[in-house]
Amino acid sequence: MHPFPGLVSGRDMREIIRFTVNGDLTETGVPTHYTLLETLRYILGLTGSKQGCDKGDCGACTVLLDGEAVLSCLLPVQEAEGRSVITVEGLAAGPHPSPLQDAFDLTGAAQCGFCTPGILCSASQLLSENQSPNREDIAQALSGNLCRCTGYTKIFEAVEVAAEATRLGLAPADVLTARRSSDTDSSTLAHFQSPQIVTGK
Ligand code: FES
Ligand code: FES
Repeated sequence: MHPFPGLVSGRDMREIIRFTVNGDLTETGVPTHYTLLETLRYILGLTGSKQGCDKGDCGACTVLLDGEAVLSCLLPVQEAEGRSVITVEGLAAGPHPSPLQDAFDLTGAAQCGFCTPGILCSASQLLSENQSPNREDIAQALSGNLCRCTGYTKIFEAVEVAAEATRLGLAPADVLTARRSSDTDSSTLAHFQSPQIVTGK
């Protein structure tokens, strides 16, 4: 029982937040101490964004706020009021993975997948600003996102494949085939993981 019945403790206080999440106008009651990440995961059920270090070091919680990659674990949810948030679940238009998500799946850039949603959001901002990024551009854009599995080479390749596919209007599988071997049939390329890892669903 609350030590002073009738009084509301700070942690019980809620406020209404209105913002757009993955294109949907959302109005919800949120504990006032919640971060944007906690609101996405524990109020809205969008668990694609990961809670890693919870202190700004790993980048697993990265989402897009008005198109800019931000660490949602550090952002008080009030900062999202009236703004647009895109999470990994919202990167694809419709049920199919975006070219970037597909490229991650095809290249093996998504392994355990813990870093993947945040990296996809950071890479998405990069590709919205630079359709022909070189390795240095990609490394710079992803410098706040840690990955323990891949050694980053496959991640960099995935971003390059997605950029090229988008520029040329091709499927990522066709771009990857051309990069790897002229006699590889794109239909034989394996998707490394289930689509859930790259779409956050
Ligand atoms: S969970 Fe936000 S930076 Fe690690
Ligand atoms: S794929 Fe496991 S941490 Fe990056």
